[in-house]
Amino acid sequence: MADVQVVRAGADDREDARDVRLRALAEAPGAFASTLEREQGFDDDEWHRRVTTNAWFLARADGATVGLACGIPEPDDGSGRHLVGMWVEPAFRGRGLSDLLVAGVMAWARRERAEFLALWVVDGNDRALAFYERVGFEATGERQPVPGRPEAEESRMRLLL
Ligand SMILES: CC(C)(COP(=O)(O)OP(=O)(O)OC[C@H]1O[C@@H](n2cnc3c(N)ncnc32)[C@H](O)[C@@H]1OP(=O)(O)O)[C@@H](O)C(=O)NCCC(=O)NCCS
Repeated sequence: MADVQVVRAGADDREDARDVRLRALAEAPGAFASTLEREQGFDDDEWHRRVTTNAWFLARADGATVGLACGIPEPDDGSGRHLVGMWVEPAFRGRGLSDLLVAGVMAWARRERAEFLALWVVDGNDRALAFYERVGFEATGERQPVPGRPEAEESRMRLLL
């Protein structure tokens, strides 16, 4: 079993964060509301801003970065936080790394005294849905078109902290 760690990214980890985020967008383009093309264009200042203003958690196995999860403010509701960017490299799925990543974001949100963690999951992403249900998220019933991709829809889930 690989030596697995989840760490909060700092400014010095931004290249690593960029690399794993771009791999996620390339591997699972349908899962996210952004695109590889868009984020490949971000400069170093933008990656610095992203990892220092939001809470980026990197999963490392034997020193290689193989997973990502990010905590950001919940739009329009200061009492919550939002989970985005969840991704685990395919060869490392089903091994508990995603649990460790979510635990990192949950601990950060609790430290910020947030009352809940919310997320959006795109219709048809049944593996992610099953994972989120297993760790305690529940569907709120809210649905919306995926930003930038109006032909697809997504559902909101929430976990009380
Ligand atoms: C979402 C993700 C981070 C979850 O991590 P993971 O390691 O795959 O998660 P797990 O294997 O622990 O849990 C997935 C669950 O779905 C189940 N599952 C696997 N394939 C499935 C499928 N096609 N349909 C439904 N359930 C499925 C697994 O059995 C497991 O359930 P269990 O723990 O009750 O047995 C990972 O799959 C991933 O990176 N996916 C691509 C990116 C993505 O979709 N991100 C989410 C954006 S909202």
